[in-house]
Amino acid sequence: MLVSGKELFQDAKRRKYAVGAFNINNMEILQAIVEAAEELQAPVFIQASQGGIKYAGLEYIAGMGIIAAAKAKVPVALNIDHGTDFNQVVRCIRHGFSAVMIDGSKLPFEENIAVTRKVVEVAHPNDVSVEAELGKITGVEDDVAVGENEGLYTDPDEAYEFVQRTNCDALAVAIGTAHGVYRGEPKLDFDRLQAIASKIDTPIVLHGASGVPDDAIRKAISLGVTKINIDTELRLAFAQAVRQVLAEDTKEYDPRKILGPAKEAVKNTVRTKIQLFGSAGKA
Ligand code: G3H
Ligand code: ZN
Repeated sequence: MLVSGKELFQDAKRRKYAVGAFNINNMEILQAIVEAAEELQAPVFIQASQGGIKYAGLEYIAGMGIIAAAKAKVPVALNIDHGTDFNQVVRCIRHGFSAVMIDGSKLPFEENIAVTRKVVEVAHPNDVSVEAELGKITGVEDDVAVGENEGLYTDPDEAYEFVQRTNCDALAVAIGTAHGVYRGEPKLDFDRLQAIASKIDTPIVLHGASGVPDDAIRKAISLGVTKINIDTELRLAFAQAVRQVLAEDTKEYDPRKILGPAKEAVKNTVRTKIQLFGSAGKA
């Protein structure tokens, strides 16, 4: 069933686990996520990324996501990932999204607060949750050493002021993870995470979680992370399976035979993450 992101955030916070948030780029990936969640009785976020929206179009993503959520036997929230501006977020709410993220992290602090507040004002009356971002989670090109990154990390005092003034439902923090494939092992700033978690009651979101070692994920959850975003690992699993099918039979032309195994590969990855996040059996 389609539920508000609020419901998922609150339950995860209360029962100290993290909800998996997986990006959907096509029907097979979407079905894989929901089927894995159903098998493991796990609540789940399905998310439209900016790239996903460009590729499939907002109407298709929304339509597919809402159908998948409505059919699902577990709670599913449909989220826009890294919403770019107020208008895009409003479009998503109109299309039936039950969760939104507004990413004002590139803006100055006061402007980030202003846009997040504006989004909260339209989202909350519609029972739509709002995730915001403070600090900059870098992309793969900017994946530099921890020391050099320090200035981009989320400041605990700013996090406190930010959630007080915006009333957002969740906060994505920058503590050393990055989007995309890591070069070398990511080093998470757990002291910072602990300091943030001690200052705010708001659920904390970890982005760029593909490729982060299991122990680090477990520790992050124990320190208060309640939603974990995974995209890259799903795409890697999907692509690897497609390559294998085509390598094994260079004459294969049936998209169902090419994409079916890719769907299974994504499903396996989602299963593993759900177990790791502690959300299995929580639906
Ligand atoms: O918002 C998306 C996530 O942060 C995914 O990051 O592609 O590194 O898994 P990832
Ligand atoms: Zn992200």
